[in-house]
Amino acid sequence: MQDRLESLASKAREEIGRAQDASGLEALRVRYLGKKGELSAVLGGMGKLAPDERRRVGEIANRVKAEVEGLLGEAQRRIARAALEAELQAPPIDVTLPGRMRRPGRRHVVSRTMEEITRTFQRLGFDVVQSPEVELDLYNFESLNFPADHPARDMQDTFYVHGDYLQHDPGAIVLRTHTSPGQIRTMLARKPPIRVVVPGKVYRADSDATHTPMFHQIEGLLVDRKVTMAELKGTLDAFVRAYFGADRRTRFRPSFFPFTEPSGELDVSCGACAGQGCRLCKQTGWLEILGCGMVHQNVFQAVGYPEGSVTGFAFGMGIERVAMLRYGLDDLRSLFENDVRLLEQF
Ligand code: DAH
Repeated sequence: MQDRLESLASKAREEIGRAQDASGLEALRVRYLGKKGELSAVLGGMGKLAPDERRRVGEIANRVKAEVEGLLGEAQRRIARAALEAELQAPPIDVTLPGRMRRPGRRHVVSRTMEEITRTFQRLGFDVVQSPEVELDLYNFESLNFPADHPARDMQDTFYVHGDYLQHDPGAIVLRTHTSPGQIRTMLARKPPIRVVVPGKVYRADSDATHTPMFHQIEGLLVDRKVTMAELKGTLDAFVRAYFGADRRTRFRPSFFPFTEPSGELDVSCGACAGQGCRLCKQTGWLEILGCGMVHQNVFQAVGYPEGSVTGFAFGMGIERVAMLRYGLDDLRSLFENDVRLLEQF
């Protein structure tokens, strides 16, 4: 037994002396001193020895164990020193190399345009309200005085979520085709005076250079006693000057929408050519930016306001359209392709 301990010690001396790295050293520690290691294996036979013998062998075993522990510690320090030495010998890190830049992100031009327009109306005293993107046919069309056979209800224009569009089902559910149902929801929830804008996404089954199936609008609604068209024009004039610049002129043209009477469209003088005529304004000197009008009495009736008790004006603007005009983009789809080379220009 004594011989086996001595030979174990000399084998350990040699092997630990040759260990090159921390993991090799750890393996040796387990092999010699581990619970199932060589030392334990030798000592397993101690029970059979006479007491005298046992004490003697025990002393030797302790000495061997202490020696192996010492060797392991020494080897560990040697290996650590060698690692540090190697690191110091290695070519130095070039701290003058440029780092990898993280490019700062930015708001998408559509989000920014929507925020800027919304903020401009907030300064004019309008509240900002949200309205659902999945909407009742009732609020998207019916309450807004759309006749039963209006072409906007067609499958070609409207995404039907539920219901039979051919049967003209007033219980149908649609992706809102405009933000105008926000007018209905606001009037059902509040009493006049009302002054709100409703920004958000709208959906139409439509796709070409100037239409995407999803786009953004901002709706405006003002309801009070004796609101006149002068206030509609004054408000939108103030908006155009605040948002596009004091030098812009406006022009109102008559138009038609089922939910306003009279209805109009608002043009802004072209910023690219100062109204002289260019490619952006198709040589007209004017850019169309929104639809507007005086709220139709049938709409007030639909939300239960007593006939003749209030008047109001409304308007609806396409956000992408405004962004395109402001930044001179010619393909609306480019706004949704997520090409950073385009987006980081704004
Ligand atoms: N909802 C209309 C559209 O999407 C835009 C519009 C026109 C909104 C006139 C209005 C309005 O509030 O008065 O084409």
